[in-house]
Amino acid sequence: MDKLVIEGGRRLCGTVTISGAKNACLPILAATLLSDDRSVIRNIPALKDMSTMLRILKNLGVRVQQDGDTVKVEPKGYSKYVAPYELVSTMRASICVLGPLLAKKGHAEVSFPGGCVIGPRPIDIHLKGLTALGAKIKVEKGYLIADAKNLKGTHIYLGGHFGSSVLATDNVMMAATLAKGVTIIENAACEPEVADLAVFLVKMGAKIKGHGTPRIIVEGVKKLHGAEHTVIADRIEAGTYMLAAAITKGDVTLKNAKLEHMIAMVDKLRESGLVIKNVPNGIRVKYVKKLKPTDMTTLPYPGFATDMQAQFMSLMAVTDGISVITEKIYPERFIHISELNRMGANILLEGPCAIIKGVKSLSGAPVMASDLRASAALVLAGLVAKGKTDVHRIYHLDRGYENLEKKLLKLGAKVWREKERS
Ligand code: EPU
Repeated sequence: MDKLVIEGGRRLCGTVTISGAKNACLPILAATLLSDDRSVIRNIPALKDMSTMLRILKNLGVRVQQDGDTVKVEPKGYSKYVAPYELVSTMRASICVLGPLLAKKGHAEVSFPGGCVIGPRPIDIHLKGLTALGAKIKVEKGYLIADAKNLKGTHIYLGGHFGSSVLATDNVMMAATLAKGVTIIENAACEPEVADLAVFLVKMGAKIKGHGTPRIIVEGVKKLHGAEHTVIADRIEAGTYMLAAAITKGDVTLKNAKLEHMIAMVDKLRESGLVIKNVPNGIRVKYVKKLKPTDMTTLPYPGFATDMQAQFMSLMAVTDGISVITEKIYPERFIHISELNRMGANILLEGPCAIIKGVKSLSGAPVMASDLRASAALVLAGLVAKGKTDVHRIYHLDRGYENLEKKLLKLGAKVWREKERS
């Protein structure tokens, strides 16, 4: 296993190219299962989660060819319908093959995804939506066994205790493309990744309107064809580099990033004093003056993304004054707090709220997180900490950040990967 070693205290400057969005690629690759024809997907980041999704497709009998960041998917004649435990247990997003398999094959067996370190992750909204379309779903031996001879369009409210669901919207929207009649999804997730999936489905011949809004209308068609698509840039990766610029008092241009996809965080960072502006083909982030503390609450898009909460907390941990961060999507997603405190931060957890008293400096330490974004938060803390920080269990970062240390190195960080001694 590898660890990341960071020697803090360097100002990050320069340009970083933002990779394709992990959370758009995963459902888009799953959507290729809806057709018999070849699809070509570009801008696929080299991440562990991508190889897991490609293994799931191969396991179903799909032919997959990868050349750099381009993946050609040949689903013709794929005959299996099982997403096995070994793969689903390493990546919860595997659930997004359920909708396409049901719609195309009329049968799916997907290992029931468990909870994870960011808290319980139920799938009731997925099941509610697919059942409303006419699927029969039961749980047997840890698997979701789903059958649907003929899916039928319907009017569905897709909401849960915490608002809309990204992957449930993806699943229901994908299944509805081949259902008979019209499906209206109310309280649909509006995330750019959901909209990008819809754009791909439309290229495949689906009839979808309203994507990117809480009301998506899908008119079922008999058949979808293959399509070519370039995936949007990863707003969470971009946001993480934006915070890396802020925390190191740097000046970084995020090539390919879209400001409108990150508007809630940009708003908070501007309020705090950071200069953020659109430049041709990207965003420039510049530290010009001492930042002010700011409160923030995570919400479904276009609100502040839960996937940026941990990284934002690292910045507030070294911002003079008191900030309050409230987590409304995953109220238990706070495993980074104890590690940040080990580095000298002063953060107190009160229910779903973290109260952060900004400290003058952090000190490097060996740290470990058990989730992707929490690990990114520790990297940010390491970039500004005095001395050396060892971020253990780097495989979490490899699930979601392409070439992280190379990109940081290019911006001027002192960072390298080392083999862990066992
Ligand atoms: N929820 C339910 N029932 C469901 C589904 C979700 O109650 O059936 C709840 C969740 O527990 C949570 C809220 O609804 O409180 C939102 O969850 P959502 O379903 O939107 O999450 P997801 O679709 O499983 C995606 C991203 C996550 C990201 C969330 C929220 C992918 C592959 N994953 O997950 O990304 O945190 O949306 O924006 O798109 C990450 O990239 O690190 C990551 C965890």
